[in-house]
Amino acid sequence: PPLVFSGVQPTGNLHLGNYLGAIRKFVALQDNNDCMYCVVDLHSITAQLVHEDLPGQIRSIAAAFIASGIDPKAHIIFNQSAVPQHAELAWIFNCVARIGWMNRMTQFKDKAGKDRENASLGLLAYPSLMAADILVYRATHVPVGDDQKQHLELTRDIAMKFNLDYQAHIRKGGKGIDITVGEEPVHAYFPMVEPMIDGPAPRVMSLRDGTKKMSKSDPSDLSRINLVDDAETISRKIRKAKTDPDGLPSEVEGLAGRPEADNLVGIYAALADRTKAEILAEFGGQQFSVFKPALVELAVNVLAPITGEMSRLMGDTSHIDAILRDGGERARARAETTMREVREIIGFLQ
Ligand code: TYM
Repeated sequence: PPLVFSGVQPTGNLHLGNYLGAIRKFVALQDNNDCMYCVVDLHSITAQLVHEDLPGQIRSIAAAFIASGIDPKAHIIFNQSAVPQHAELAWIFNCVARIGWMNRMTQFKDKAGKDRENASLGLLAYPSLMAADILVYRATHVPVGDDQKQHLELTRDIAMKFNLDYQAHIRKGGKGIDITVGEEPVHAYFPMVEPMIDGPAPRVMSLRDGTKKMSKSDPSDLSRINLVDDAETISRKIRKAKTDPDGLPSEVEGLAGRPEADNLVGIYAALADRTKAEILAEFGGQQFSVFKPALVELAVNVLAPITGEMSRLMGDTSHIDAILRDGGERARARAETTMREVREIIGFLQ
């Protein structure tokens, strides 16, 4: 079966954007794929973190995966630092990727701000580690939100440059796969990853401003629905969500130029596993005073069981820790298989 890989950073609370853009898709992919879902703790230290909070944050992402319905026995849930091969391959990719590629990343530019000289080297090299996360398993399918698209394009660039730089040794070892790039046949060691960004809510926007992404770092808590919010809070945030004065259109085209309406319809569709067109066929012509209560009910019905299960799981951390330990062990065995071949391709003695 195709190998699916994705990661979530253990920084702060998960929000509806993380759930709809990523975790809900992780759950849906389990039936037909071999899935690996990773709490990317190495990535999280590119931001200022409080040492005391990190273990709990790592566990709470694992808890969210499990509470959302990911089966840790049939698939693999683990934390990144448990598999040192991620960092090893990232170093190799640091020597493949170019500084210019990293400098062009919009997320780096946003996070580094004006004082780029003082950004950590880790923040600059962040996408190199992300490429290593995926390619150390030679995974092919990566479900993410729209904001990760550029990073996945870079992952393909890194894979391609590695494949071309080491072409002769990859052929000699016979461990590669034949792919075509344009018209060129290439014996590739690393596959070209397929981003999975589809669905009705690839980019969940702030509830206060339909032109800004819903994010952990927005100072206004009203801008996002957190996975830990209770029913009352979810209801208040949706009721206060910004909208325009018109009712809902009956067709998707009618959402153009109405970012807030588009966002709420997308959220509804994603929570209901339906399309925006289907939602508009039902609610077209109605006012937000009708749509918002329906959205509240749906959001609470979907999120409350997850929130409840998360807090139950967090009550006994030994269960989560055992899952992470087991997942880490299985992931390490897979990653080491790749790294033996990579070391061989590069020419390291082992
Ligand atoms: P992170 O931890 O910021 O976010 C986790 C996932 O949530 C998605 N997401 C959103 N989707 C829709 N609307 C939003 N407003 C929204 N906000 C966040 C993200 O796209 C992501 O899928 N670099 C990654 C973590 C990572 C990773 C990887 C992902 C590290 N290695 C390898 C895939 C493969 C990140 O910071 O995600």
